Amino acid sequence: MLQVRNLTKRYDSEAVFADVTLDVAAGEFVAIVGESGVGKSTMLNCLAGLDTVSEGTVKMLDTDVTKLDDQAQALFRRRHLGFVFQAFHVLPHLDVASNVALPLMLLGTPDDVRLEAVLKAVGLDGLGARLPQQLSGGQLQRVAIARALIHRPALILADEPTGNLDPQTAEKVMKALVDQIRDNGTACVMVTHSQTVASLADRVLCLTRTGLRDVR
Ligand SMILES: Nc1ncnc2c1ncn2[C@@H]1O[C@H](COP(=O)(O)OP(=O)(O)O)[C@@H](O)[C@H]1O
Ligand SMILES: [Mg+2]
Repeated sequence: MLQVRNLTKRYDSEAVFADVTLDVAAGEFVAIVGESGVGKSTMLNCLAGLDTVSEGTVKMLDTDVTKLDDQAQALFRRRHLGFVFQAFHVLPHLDVASNVALPLMLLGTPDDVRLEAVLKAVGLDGLGARLPQQLSGGQLQRVAIARALIHRPALILADEPTGNLDPQTAEKVMKALVDQIRDNGTACVMVTHSQTVASLADRVLCLTRTGLRDVR
């Protein structure tokens, strides 16, 4: 469902990474590792159309997203992608239920039954009326995970999603995310330094300046 060909990203003339080629099948879970600063976050942003690419193509569900204009890219993301970032990015003035329901609201397809189900699935049942400031870090990331899942995207992109959590919380939150992508058959590309995640993924790849290499 994802075909990346010869993706290169430069700032001025300096390449951050070059020649990234990647295929992800429907439902496949790929973990990406690599040194700090090698361009992992930049690469995920390029896959999502949140950053411009210097060379190469990103084909998702038979659409070359690098060829879409900004508005078409935004609509494509809204429908087909879910994101989980290291820093949660939960909206502070919305309660948990409204944060999680946001993708469905934007698509014009609110669904309270699905909202309740996804809150329960990630371990947030009963917390829908809380504001983000009333949550722990682990709970905040569960909100972000539920928000990434609720519209049943074909692909979830996750950038060190447990990097801001203590190791025990990270394990539990990661399990919630992996259980959900496996249950729903959602493909996932996840940047992570966690051995646990790497052991759960179908494949592990390492980003270097000259491309993606197989680790396992
Ligand atoms: N706007 C920018 N202009 C120039 N260089 C940038 C810009 N944004 C990021 N970079 C550089 O791109 C490299 C990759 O960053 P990043 O994708 O955050 O790496 P990682 O996620 O692997 O730690 C870093 O060396 C960073 O300094
Ligand atoms: Mg990063």
